[in-house]
Amino acid sequence: MEEIARAKINLALHVRGREPDGYHRLETVFAFAEHGDLLRASEAAELSLRIEGPFAEGLSAGEDNLVLRAARKLQARLQVGKGAALTLNKRLPVASGIGGGSADAAAALRLLNRLWGVGAGEPELLGIARSLGADVPACVLSRPCLGTGRGDDLAPYDASAVTGAPLLLVNPGVAVSTADVFRGWAGRDGGPLPEDLLSAHNDLEEPAKAVAPVIGDVLEALAAASGARLVRMSGSGATCFALFESEAERDKATAEIAAAHPHWWQLASRLG
Ligand code: C5P
Repeated sequence: MEEIARAKINLALHVRGREPDGYHRLETVFAFAEHGDLLRASEAAELSLRIEGPFAEGLSAGEDNLVLRAARKLQARLQVGKGAALTLNKRLPVASGIGGGSADAAAALRLLNRLWGVGAGEPELLGIARSLGADVPACVLSRPCLGTGRGDDLAPYDASAVTGAPLLLVNPGVAVSTADVFRGWAGRDGGPLPEDLLSAHNDLEEPAKAVAPVIGDVLEALAAASGARLVRMSGSGATCFALFESEAERDKATAEIAAAHPHWWQLASRLG
């Protein structure tokens, strides 16, 4: 059995304030790419995790891995006696603002729920997801939604205006710590999300650029591409994205950016 851990995109992210526990209050629109990491599982007596793929290196497959933490929580919560042999094909860069570990953990919850036949409903999976990280519940749904609170209070979001849009993700190869970026937030309330996504923003772009100035170059390269209609950073970066008018324009931008910046990672996809 397998599940795609779709890349998470924050189409907009407004930071509204900081809570006493250090977490930030957000208003964010989550959407998902058609592509992502791939998680496979087969039944086994024990739980195990093997990581392969282009970004496997440097990622621990130990008990601290979010996939195993998600699996153990599901096992405990539903009193499952079985294990699973899990293989994660890591195709998305690590610590890059597009879900990564959160999407993998969410995929593990969906996949093991099926493999073990335990039939946990969405509310139960979302409850476990919330205890694993602020982005994990949205990744469990893997469909457009509006996130408030820490980003884990979810409501449906009508993304029909952009569903299926050709999408390009670009990462300059710099891992960015989410906690560091949030710490650099200047404390200005980003205001409520407007109806029109084009006039929304990602309030983490400025603090992320302070941590990794190359993010400014990525945004400039995407904004210069013809047919790019929404250009923004996702999450706490460093991955930035553009939505395009057409696949041809997206593919042209991909080729131009690859020629100018051969070491940047790119993923040409569509908004799911
Ligand atoms: O929840 P998660 O483990 O993904 O968050 C990583 C870090 O990002 C947190 O430790 C916190 O520093 C920061 N964060 C935050 N406000 C949020 C979400 C995350 O400050 N709403």
